[in-house]
Amino acid sequence: AEQKATNVHWHDHRVSSEDRKKLKGHKSCVLWFTGLSGSGKSTIANTVDHKLAEMGKHTYLLDGDNIRMGLNKNLGFSAEDRAENIRRIGEVGKLFSDAGMITLTAFISPYRADRDAVRALLEDGEFVEVYVDAPLETCEARDPKGLYKKARAGEIKGFTGIDDPYEIPENAELVLDSDSKGIDELADEVIAFLKERGMI
Ligand code: PPS
Repeated sequence: AEQKATNVHWHDHRVSSEDRKKLKGHKSCVLWFTGLSGSGKSTIANTVDHKLAEMGKHTYLLDGDNIRMGLNKNLGFSAEDRAENIRRIGEVGKLFSDAGMITLTAFISPYRADRDAVRALLEDGEFVEVYVDAPLETCEARDPKGLYKKARAGEIKGFTGIDDPYEIPENAELVLDSDSKGIDELADEVIAFLKERGMI
């Protein structure tokens, strides 16, 4: 969205982002989990968050439903509102990165353009797109919140995967096979990736 306020200027802080990272003892990044409802995004992100915290890393998890109950409670599920949802999360991720944190986000984020806009917002290498890959049939069979059932019955309109699109990532840094692998194994794949990249 375009900026509405004029006469605003970026302020450099006396404590730089580099200083903050040095204090934390690791790099910062945004681990962006994307996938269908019921694919396992939140559960995997939670487990990675927990493992990283146990390793003494400074992390914070931004999770779909929680953010939609607070920061983004004025947004629905139209393409426009989803774009704004993702834009705000991206901006929050950018602030957390500046603060030296490892941020984990778990949002469907169905549109490629919205995810790419967040990628563009962050420094090179800071955006780690993690596609939580599970076929619709699997997600629908899991149906942890009973939402697919409602969507099939026409009680929810515009439900991702049913009558709303999900655009599969083309350049994800990581693809997690959540159809055949367990949560713990997938969380370890994310941790291994961060180690390989020298992030932690
Ligand atoms: S998005 O597309 O990234 O803006 O969505 P997100 O903020 O991740 O919110 C998804 C959760 O909202 C519930 N929900 C819906 N999802 C998809 N489509 C529609 N129409 C919808 N309505 C409500 C649903 O519980 C999603 O939760 P998860 O955790 O993904 O299952």
